[in-house]
Amino acid sequence: MKNLRDFDFKNKRVLVRVDFNVPVGDEGRVDEKEDWRLEAALPTINYLLRKKAKIILLAHLGRPHGKIVESLRLDPIARRLEELLGQSVIKLDDCLGRQVEERVKNIQAGEVLLLENLRFHIGEEKNNPDFTKQIARLGEVFVNDAFGVIHRPHASMVSLPQYLPGCAGLLLEKEIRILSKVLTKPKHPLVVIIGGVKISTKIKVIKNFLEKTDDLILGGALANTVIKAKGFTIGKSIVEEEMVDEVKKLELTNIKLHIPVDVITSIDAQGRAPSRIAPVGHTKEKEMILDIGPDTCQLFKQVISQAKMIIWNGPMGLFEVDKFASGTKEIARTIAQTKGFSVVGGGDTVNLLEELNLIGKIDHVSTGGGAMLKFLAGEKLPGLEVLKKT
Ligand code: 3PG
Ligand code: MG
Repeated sequence: MKNLRDFDFKNKRVLVRVDFNVPVGDEGRVDEKEDWRLEAALPTINYLLRKKAKIILLAHLGRPHGKIVESLRLDPIARRLEELLGQSVIKLDDCLGRQVEERVKNIQAGEVLLLENLRFHIGEEKNNPDFTKQIARLGEVFVNDAFGVIHRPHASMVSLPQYLPGCAGLLLEKEIRILSKVLTKPKHPLVVIIGGVKISTKIKVIKNFLEKTDDLILGGALANTVIKAKGFTIGKSIVEEEMVDEVKKLELTNIKLHIPVDVITSIDAQGRAPSRIAPVGHTKEKEMILDIGPDTCQLFKQVISQAKMIIWNGPMGLFEVDKFASGTKEIARTIAQTKGFSVVGGGDTVNLLEELNLIGKIDHVSTGGGAMLKFLAGEKLPGLEVLKKT
């Protein structure tokens, strides 16, 4: 795979795909505690500035699926990036079309442009050749620095490098270097912790990890689907009904697999009603499972503290509501304290570590959530496969 050192960027229009998918608050601002994906892209942008390149940034925000959604415009991201870079970032109102082409034609060396959310055009997700061609002609070289999106077969990830000479940026390179070591030389006991909501997007990774790891811990709403598949009641908890049969095919009695034994339940997810600790299987009809319980926490902590290597993605409960955040916070603190090499990735997970001031205690904080899990589970990532061939 080529890298930045393989190109002469002077006076070249460089299309740089970045992952700036960060939370934007209601007041249209990116919080400085949540801008770590922007910070992670600075080394590549600064490198290109030093080399006198003309920089055109490509990014997405949220999942607008081909429609213009005002709250998903990239203006707040451009403003935060300006602060971080200490220079102006010119945000355009589209990512293709006549006006964009005119502006790009006049770009000067040392200027930074940010094109509008790529996902406002369905061609990005659908990997439409016409869309790709229109983007490709804006640049002369392509740099992919969007590790967090590398598992998506989208136009900017898999097709741009077919139209333009391309290479990996510094962030992508670093992620692959560190995560490759974890993949090829894991230390044992290797403990993987997967939380979050959807088991459908993680089932393949879970299957792969069940074979490779010494312990696999599942928490968060995705564990509800597993609990249900084991035949326990889960009341009104979030569940993916259509996944229950699929989950039953997993080796649910494998001793490596750890799922909650007790949970925190309540009839109100906003935390306005009383909550209680319930053994798994004792969730009442109107209740929801909203966090892992104290016994589960102890059990998970015991497993984690013996690990020589830990991989974590996804919260253990509805951590946005204080009342249901203890499980996730306890797990975060345990990982931070453990001597084993720790790798943590994913938006929610890393934001929580920032909030708890624990980032410095993690060996590698990945900008990828799904991308990181897939890479570490040994899956091929479309964006990377294409780049390797250039
Ligand atoms: C992420 O936030 O995980 C990446 O930016 C990818 O976003 P996506 O899951 O909407 O494709
Ligand atoms: Mg910050």
